[in-house]
Amino acid sequence: MRYVITGYDEKERRRLAVLASLLDPFTFQELDRIGLQPDWQCVEIGAGLGTVSQWMADRLQSGGGVLCSDLQTDFIDEINHPRIRSEKLDISKSPQYLDRFDLAVARAVHHHIADRDGAARNLVRMVRPGGHILFIEPDIHPAFCDDHPAWKRLWQALFQWGARRDIDYFTGRRLPGQLAALGLDIVSVRGETVLFNGSADDNPAHETYRLMFDVVLPDLVGGGFLSRADHEEALALLENPEVWLMGFCFFATHARKSASS
Ligand SMILES: C[S@@+](CC[C@H](N)C(=O)[O-])C[C@H]1O[C@@H](n2cnc3c(N)ncnc32)[C@H](O)[C@@H]1O
Repeated sequence: MRYVITGYDEKERRRLAVLASLLDPFTFQELDRIGLQPDWQCVEIGAGLGTVSQWMADRLQSGGGVLCSDLQTDFIDEINHPRIRSEKLDISKSPQYLDRFDLAVARAVHHHIADRDGAARNLVRMVRPGGHILFIEPDIHPAFCDDHPAWKRLWQALFQWGARRDIDYFTGRRLPGQLAALGLDIVSVRGETVLFNGSADDNPAHETYRLMFDVVLPDLVGGGFLSRADHEEALALLENPEVWLMGFCFFATHARKSASS
């Protein structure tokens, strides 16, 4: 299994922490709507630092628990919570837990997985009949209609770069159809898009895109997807307090497995 990030160091920890601070408030609202029950068994796929697992575990009581999983467990192994167990789990592989969980959550993972149909099927198999599934995935479309041409070209370049690596930055819009095709009931689909400017160093959106630039810009320019001039302009836009920029939309898809399946 290939994942675009290969180093799990302090820089990656920082990147995951900033991403979590960008997405946690929206994710927790969606989990609140689902309404966790204190005795639920939950699983998080591709948990990163495990902030979502910790939020869920804090709402469970004895009898309930969270399996916090990722391809790489160095970060989640550090979590010390009585209702969290960490485990290495690759969602592209056939699951060892079948019909086990009341709720499965996967955030910002699915778009990275080459066999997205297979991974969705594996996740669904882990959930009990009647159980809940929450996917939160990006859809890059707002960045494509930003007012600043260099910013638009940057994300169009990322989209093309991603397509060569089986990364789909339109996953957010595609998941509801994909899950419905697997026989799930789609309960709700909602999106959140940030509009941000370059002045706020403590703004998680600003910092998320800054750290993302570190990872992808050299590849975009080196691979001929983006010109050096657009690279320079995008960097300047990101740091300009007078410029407001469109980030990605993140769609939350809440689905349920039929009680009779
Ligand atoms: C962008 S990070 C998101 C982390 C976390 N879900 C969050 O939103 O804060 C993607 C995570 O998915 C994990 N991942 C990538 N491919 C995976 C796979 N096939 N199975 C399970 N986890 C995977 C990575 O190790 C990484 O921690």
